[in-house]
Amino acid sequence: MTAWYAGLLAGSLLLSGAFIYLGLENYLQRNLRTNLQEQAVSVADEVLEHANTETQSKIPSLLKQRFASQLNGRFIRLLAADGTVIYISAIPADGSFDPATVPISQNRSKQPYSDDEHLPDYRRVLIAGVPIVTAQGKPLFVEVGALYKPIEGVLQGLLLNIALLMPLMIVVAVVGGYLVMRSALRPVDEITMLAERISSRNLGERLPVIKTGDELERLSTSLNRMIARLESAFQHINRFSADVSHELRTPLTILRGELEAAGRGRRLDADLLEIIGSALEEIERLVRISDQLLAISRLDAGEARIDRAVVDLGELAVSTAEQMQLLAEEKPIEMRYRISKLVRVEGDPSRLKQVVVNLLDNAVKYTAPGGWVQVTVEAEGSNAILDIADNGVGIPTEALPHIFERFYRADKARSRDSGGTGLGLSIVHAICTAHGGKITVFSAEGQGTRFHVELPLFYDDSAFNKTEKRHLKLAGNIIERRQPSITG
Ligand SMILES: Nc1ncnc2c1ncn2[C@@H]1O[C@H](COP(=O)(O)OP(=O)(O)OP(=O)(O)O)[C@@H](O)[C@H]1O
Ligand SMILES: [Mg+2]
Repeated sequence: MTAWYAGLLAGSLLLSGAFIYLGLENYLQRNLRTNLQEQAVSVADEVLEHANTETQSKIPSLLKQRFASQLNGRFIRLLAADGTVIYISAIPADGSFDPATVPISQNRSKQPYSDDEHLPDYRRVLIAGVPIVTAQGKPLFVEVGALYKPIEGVLQGLLLNIALLMPLMIVVAVVGGYLVMRSALRPVDEITMLAERISSRNLGERLPVIKTGDELERLSTSLNRMIARLESAFQHINRFSADVSHELRTPLTILRGELEAAGRGRRLDADLLEIIGSALEEIERLVRISDQLLAISRLDAGEARIDRAVVDLGELAVSTAEQMQLLAEEKPIEMRYRISKLVRVEGDPSRLKQVVVNLLDNAVKYTAPGGWVQVTVEAEGSNAILDIADNGVGIPTEALPHIFERFYRADKARSRDSGGTGLGLSIVHAICTAHGGKITVFSAEGQGTRFHVELPLFYDDSAFNKTEKRHLKLAGNIIERRQPSITG
């Protein structure tokens, strides 16, 4: 906008500059011509007056006597009908030109006339002429002329002023315009920044409404209304999936019970038993999925009850990993640990354990035999970090933004073989968010994956004894605040 503004300003300044220049030139020329004409008329009156009474030969000396003192930068010329010069004034007082070198006007006519001629050195001369007829019936032409140069001088001065002033005005206007524009758009910037921060996780937040009564206020109110509509749509979706999974549980439980009874009750042949067995397995899977969906929906909607206890994240990670050791040994995959002591968070132990289980399960599942999985727990600033890295298959870049979505699996074929439903990471994400933390993923296809969980560090000064405090210092853990809140 500033560029447009500068362009328009430069254009209109140029246009008005041209108008002023041409207008002034026109005015000065007209003025000079009228002036010359008036002087020519008064010279003609003088000539007529004396041509009647005196002899013609006296006229030159008379004109010289009468007008010489008025001729500054001008000349007077008296021409006979055939163009012969009867009288021509001497070089004017300022010595600017020699009147004798002014060519004879070609435009002489029976009416007062004006003419432009050029001196041998190309300087322009404006001439005004008046035709007269003496009492003896002799036609004569009285001419008064002046150099065009003074007008040129004024115009050049104007041009110089325009050339100097215009860039200055443009610079001042552009800088001023830019500053005004920036301050006018600052609220838009603020709204943009805040709008960027609003995601499906914090749809309850609203943008500040700037009471300006103009487009900005309308923009922020209508954005807020849009966020409110989004919020209700999201709540609707959440409620819907929570209701669906809840409603599915009862029929599934009944189905499972009936199938189990059918399998137990009568003597059935082996084929039928096998079918019942696999149907039961599928039902188990359905129950698991609907339980997981219900859990995610409740966590997302903030309805889930989260038990609060102080959990040592390092101990939790190690004990969980040890329980899953067998899974890794089967493949085999090497488990590595880097666990800092006393990294504590406040939260629901069983749900936090679920985070470790799901992430470790993925790491082992998506890493080829012979690979490694590394579990790191440490404190960083006011955060507890749980970092689970592997050197497995990795996640394609285009899949990365989606992996926390429900039912999303990067490689459908591969995941179906391994029995995944694509809900594991959605649960992890929902649990982290519900605990005021966030999860980030780094991955390169074919090289490995790293899930980085940040949770607010629990810090209770009274709970630390001296040794623990020293230990904290040694570990380089700088704890700044009690219970900081980070939204992810
Ligand atoms: N450590 C990892 N290495 C490579 N790919 C991964 C890793 N973790 C997750 N993924 C990819 O992200 C997808 C989603 O993971 P998620 O845990 O949600 O589902 P899943 O493991 O397929 O099934 P579920 O965990 O529900 O049994 C996976 O299908 C897989 O493609
Ligand atoms: Mg998984």
